[in-house]
Amino acid sequence: MRKKIVAGNWKMNKSMEEALILASEVVHMVKDEVNSDVQVIIAPPALYLTTLQKHTEAVANMGIAAQNCSNKASGAYTGEISASMLKSIGATHVILGHSERRQYFNESNEVLAEKVNIVLENDLTPIFCCGETLEQRQAEGFFEFVASQLTDSLFHLSAEEFGKVVIAYEPIWAIGTGLTASSQQAQDMHAFLRGHLATKYGQEVADNTSILYGGSCNEKNAQELFACPDVDGGLIGGASLKSREFTNIAKSF
Ligand code: PGA
Repeated sequence: MRKKIVAGNWKMNKSMEEALILASEVVHMVKDEVNSDVQVIIAPPALYLTTLQKHTEAVANMGIAAQNCSNKASGAYTGEISASMLKSIGATHVILGHSERRQYFNESNEVLAEKVNIVLENDLTPIFCCGETLEQRQAEGFFEFVASQLTDSLFHLSAEEFGKVVIAYEPIWAIGTGLTASSQQAQDMHAFLRGHLATKYGQEVADNTSILYGGSCNEKNAQELFACPDVDGGLIGGASLKSREFTNIAKSF
């Protein structure tokens, strides 16, 4: 059956020194306290991946993710980091299509499809983000809009390739706002997306796909969210910057 996953997206936060402290606290707490069937991933700024990977690799159920990568393999792309570079330093996952990347860096579904391909080619796991704005939620058709993000960036994959993808549903109105989707809202969207995956890849592949919830998830609401039958964990922003709270979230299944 599908994996339970809690991933911490640190975004553009922490100095090197602070990052080392946070990562080593998380590593110790996860090792001592978190069930081994829960996979815990941290996604620090790219600059810290090499150093922090040495800490996470010591714990069997931990992984380390980049927050983004290039859609190109290599070459004259100043400032970019490739999937093969990430693989070479021991990264395990790459977050793709976060709403902040879509909004501030104009990442389109088409570019994201290229990123998904290159991440999979390098044997890394994409954590593919999707989600609607508040305006979309208040209008008709937001379920279909989120499903179309999956269709446009993922449905060119074979079933075997798709089997390696993790989905993160993150309603944009809930990210960093303190406004969490209710567990019913999360469950409804996750079930809808799983049904959408089943129409393309069949029920078995859909049932094996981990769909994470993200958006103001914290130690107080994680238990109720993770208890929903189609919510397989969380992509955690703000609350992943505190080791105690992040670990408590990973213990909320
Ligand atoms: P948040 O962010 O938990 O701070 O709302 C979630 C995310 O952006 O992944």
